[in-house]
Amino acid sequence: METSVAPTNAEFLASVATKSDGAALRGDYTQADAQYVVTQNWAAYTEEEHELWRKLYARQAALLPGRACDEFVEALNKMDASGGIPILATTSEALFAATGWVIVAVPGLIPEHSFFDHLANRRFPVTVWLRTPEEFDYIVEPDIFHDFFGHVPLLFNPVFADYMQRYGQGGLKAMRLGGLDELARLYWYTVEFGLINTPQGLRIYGAGILSSGGEVEYCLKPGTASRHIRLDIERCLRTLYKIDSYQESYFVIDSYQQLFDGTAPDFTPIYEKLKHMDVLPANTLLATEIELLPH
Ligand code: PHE
Ligand code: FE
Repeated sequence: METSVAPTNAEFLASVATKSDGAALRGDYTQADAQYVVTQNWAAYTEEEHELWRKLYARQAALLPGRACDEFVEALNKMDASGGIPILATTSEALFAATGWVIVAVPGLIPEHSFFDHLANRRFPVTVWLRTPEEFDYIVEPDIFHDFFGHVPLLFNPVFADYMQRYGQGGLKAMRLGGLDELARLYWYTVEFGLINTPQGLRIYGAGILSSGGEVEYCLKPGTASRHIRLDIERCLRTLYKIDSYQESYFVIDSYQQLFDGTAPDFTPIYEKLKHMDVLPANTLLATEIELLPH
């Protein structure tokens, strides 16, 4: 149940407050515990790194008005992280008070099982190291800027926060059922690259877009070759995605509640069915689908 993890996460927060060691070095897994958690050695960040963070933040924040969803912008502003690399424990406490989620510091990508287990227990893994200046515009793996700036704000939204926990539980289940490739596509097209329909027009909620200098503008631009289509769960689970270019498809939701409700049914029969169906290329537009941005 959503509330039963609260004491555990509260204990975790208390333990973090007393630690000051840990790894801030890129890819240093030697300090990690069995769940790949490290403590953020905040004092080890250099002034150059704080300056790079401020530049990344300022560039990104300037792109958000009229493009990012309101929930994201409001939470981001409250997180107050424009001045330098944030202390994760501080935001973690505010997040815990809002939705019962905590941030756990990790040295980089972690194995699927641990990742899902963290999400299933309302813990969001945030990478401790920051990219280099050469990676300002593009980085192949998640760093603290992507993880913190991109992902943490929406975890303040109660419905989205519940969706993320369910996703983690669904991931553990998909590992048993052989549905990991399919479920990963849903994460990609919602948590990382999702768009939401609002009375003011399409807005971004996906972290992969919101932490990217170029895609924030690209994904909402009319006339590109990319698709903007209503999220249909089964269709999304079949759709391949691009990892080294802007997306060729964006799936649009009407609300976080729709996302939560639409993913609530048991996926077991869907995984079964999809085993006998072809995957769809990333630029697919089915005859029944409507492009939601004018071309
Ligand atoms: N309902 C999914 C299942 O039964 C789990 C899930 C929930 C997956 C939310 C993704 C998001 O497997
Ligand atoms: Fe991400």
